[in-house]
Amino acid sequence: MEISKELEEMMNDQLNFELYSAYIYLGMGAYFEDINLGGMAHWMELQFQEEFNHAMRFYRHIFERGGRVDLREIKAPQKEYASPIEAWETAYEHEKLVTARIYKIGELAEKEGDRAAISMLNWFYTEQVEEEEKTMTVRDKLKFIGDNVPGLYHLDAELGARPPVGPPPAESFAP
Ligand code: FEO
Repeated sequence: MEISKELEEMMNDQLNFELYSAYIYLGMGAYFEDINLGGMAHWMELQFQEEFNHAMRFYRHIFERGGRVDLREIKAPQKEYASPIEAWETAYEHEKLVTARIYKIGELAEKEGDRAAISMLNWFYTEQVEEEEKTMTVRDKLKFIGDNVPGLYHLDAELGARPPVGPPPAESFAP
């Protein structure tokens, strides 16, 4: 079954939004590099790659279902933050927005009875739990740390140990 035009449009919009998400995290990475928090910069630079991989899942799914990918202009990301906690708070809020957007696509897929799209989106529902949890946890740890500089550097080192992100998925149903 080919993807409907309406679902194709929503997936193209989300493909663009995932690329925008990648850009936001690269912007945060540049901010953290600038204030010498190399561990947080490392984490964000990997998150940039992870968001690119999310975009590629939509890219693949649209083609796999007989649709046409429509690449669009990507907005410039925020460049400066008042503090590390503001950046992580922004990341957490952004992830909640991504979740809400994915749910909206899912609502349409369910309305249309598009089982393939629902199955592909199932991956994103669980992924978003992880995405929100990761950013919320760092935000909460930073709240707890407050002005304690050794605490901040300890957290920075922890985030600097994030393992590499794999290559983009070869198909939209990749585990
Ligand atoms: Fe692609 Fe962080 O959600």
